[in-house]
Amino acid sequence: MKILLLGSGGREHAFAWKLSQSPLCEKIFVAPGNAGTSQHGQNVAIGVNDFDAIEKFVLANSIKLVVVGPEDPLVNGIYDYFQSKDELKNIPVIGPSKVGAQLEGSKAFAKQFMIRHNIPTAAYGEFTIENLEDGFDFIDEQIPPIVLKADGLAAGKGVLILPEHGEAKENLREMIEQNKFGKASAKVVIEEFLKGIEFSVFVLTDGVNYKILPNAKDYKRIGEGDTGLNTGGMGCISPVPFVDAALIKKVEERVIIPTIEGLKKDNIVYKGFIYIGFMNVDGEPYVIEYNCRMGDPETEIVLPRIKNDLVELLVAVGNGSLEKEVIEIDERAAATVIVASGGYPEEYEKGKEISGLNDARDSIIFHAGTKQDGDKVLTNGGRVLAVTSYGKDIHDSVAKSNAAIEKINFEGKYYRRDIGYEFR
Ligand code: AMP
Ligand code: GLY
Repeated sequence: MKILLLGSGGREHAFAWKLSQSPLCEKIFVAPGNAGTSQHGQNVAIGVNDFDAIEKFVLANSIKLVVVGPEDPLVNGIYDYFQSKDELKNIPVIGPSKVGAQLEGSKAFAKQFMIRHNIPTAAYGEFTIENLEDGFDFIDEQIPPIVLKADGLAAGKGVLILPEHGEAKENLREMIEQNKFGKASAKVVIEEFLKGIEFSVFVLTDGVNYKILPNAKDYKRIGEGDTGLNTGGMGCISPVPFVDAALIKKVEERVIIPTIEGLKKDNIVYKGFIYIGFMNVDGEPYVIEYNCRMGDPETEIVLPRIKNDLVELLVAVGNGSLEKEVIEIDERAAATVIVASGGYPEEYEKGKEISGLNDARDSIIFHAGTKQDGDKVLTNGGRVLAVTSYGKDIHDSVAKSNAAIEKINFEGKYYRRDIGYEFR
């Protein structure tokens, strides 16, 4: 079958790599893709939110499966768009309906969902211009640090963790009155601060059945030892050493099952990935956030650890037969280390020639921000490559990725050498 994959990052290169291994995959198109995705299929110059152009392309090329990488088109309703058109509605779109995508698109929606379905999460309040004064009172009742979250999508920047009440109130005012995060912060969720260690669990669902995929822990800060600015993620590891069978059992019983049941009870159509961010508070899992898609760079280790035919799994999601599938997980550990442009996550230069891409033979090099220019590959983003390696444990897999990165060069190359440091 012909498949259309939407997106252009490391996550999409990992999807293209995995989907193209399936005997069911006749050809894969990636819109818009990057220099890495074109190794596995054909890039097409269509934006992920250009639903008209996507429709025309899908019909003209007899596409039979659409896989959505990033959250934007999901929150904008690509699933519903396909359902609303007679010629498109039988072509499965892997991703939730517009309402389902609100689990990521609106923090307040996600909190209400969790409260309604008894899913463990931090206590919270939600505030707008209408009840700003109540927001100040709510802040006074919190023990710092105080967690403020813009309700809407804010490109990963909408969460502030503030050390004292006064600063929290100032920021609340800026978010609501002065559009600190644009429209996304017209509403703000204020949360109890949870102390613990984060981890992520990924679920694939057809809306009725679900499968738990390998877990991961990511490293969001730019600097070694988790210092400096937040990024989209500088690397991650799988499996997470402290996520044992007992913790996963709690996650499944207290969060995954109530989430799937809650979606059903609320009549929310959801056929796709759910990425659940957790805080492990003394062995008890609390949900920090839902994402309506796979993570980036988490996909770059989660998919390599799944042995199944991914096309077969996604077809089963589309037709509601996921129950009969058995997920087979590679026992090896995996790590991915991001190679970034110097300056990221602040200003950085693009267009630097990358050398050594073929020298790192023991690792999988996923392209994130790259561009093909004749026979050269150029940097084209802040996160440039995700270098994934298998190993007997976390230490081994990270060491292999680091060694591979030493063979790759471009001006300004930066990476964290300490991914997985707590477990090495
Ligand atoms: P989110 O976008 O909701 O994942 O939040 C971004 C980051 O803020 C998370 O990855 C956590 O590190 C942190 N965070 C969010 N909510 C809380 C909370 N209630 N308590 C402690 N840390 C939090
Ligand atoms: N790595 C974080 C995310 O994909 O949201």
